[in-house]
Amino acid sequence: MSIQMKDRTEKSNTGEKKAVGESAADLVRDKMVVGLGTGSTTAFAIKSLGHRVKQGLDIRGVPTSYQSQMLAIEHGIPLTSLAQDPVVDIAIDGADQVDANLCVIKGGGAAHTNEKIIAASARRFVVLVDLTKVVEVLDHYVPLEVMPQALELVKCQVRELKGKPVLRMAVHKDGPVITDNGNFVVDADFGKINDPEQLARELSGCTGVVEHGIFLNANEVYVGRPDCEIEILKA
Ligand code: A5P
Repeated sequence: MSIQMKDRTEKSNTGEKKAVGESAADLVRDKMVVGLGTGSTTAFAIKSLGHRVKQGLDIRGVPTSYQSQMLAIEHGIPLTSLAQDPVVDIAIDGADQVDANLCVIKGGGAAHTNEKIIAASARRFVVLVDLTKVVEVLDHYVPLEVMPQALELVKCQVRELKGKPVLRMAVHKDGPVITDNGNFVVDADFGKINDPEQLARELSGCTGVVEHGIFLNANEVYVGRPDCEIEILKA
């Protein structure tokens, strides 16, 4: 069985994504518990880990989504859960945008709640991007996983924070995107985000928001350049 990637992940920069994905997979050592992120960039890391598992690497993966779970199974990576392995040695994941202070926006694939839980459980959190995603000041919309019954309340709270909320609609399903946890996603546009820490605090305080897509705990960001060289940004 081959996992179908969603349309948004079929866009460009495949060479850069492959290069960062494979070099992140090289960070993994025997006996590690590995957080397996979601999206097209991390998919290269998962495939590369699967290849190493076939050669004898002994690891267990904690998937962040059904996508990464299915891909890991397809590539023969043994899986575990945070219930069995509450401490993750290394979490590897993609991102939608990153600034020079290693503040990260995630959730383009609606998996950011589970990704954040696994990143927060990790000793080392490594984020993988191509150069187009590195900016001076974050301005990507912030995905919010929202309890369905709180949709209108969350939109009001986002507007109070001067954001523009949009319910994310599904592409190959009628109606809204439903997350792996059974919730809606609201994409909130705040324009330029000059203080990501403050916005993260404010969004965490919104009733009905399960989790927002601002991540402040990346240890390293691997940046794939157009020549496929990799630059490492460290906290
Ligand atoms: C999943 O919800 C996201 O956080 C992804 O990790 C992020 O959107 C990066 O995806 P790509 O690697 O496909 O760009």
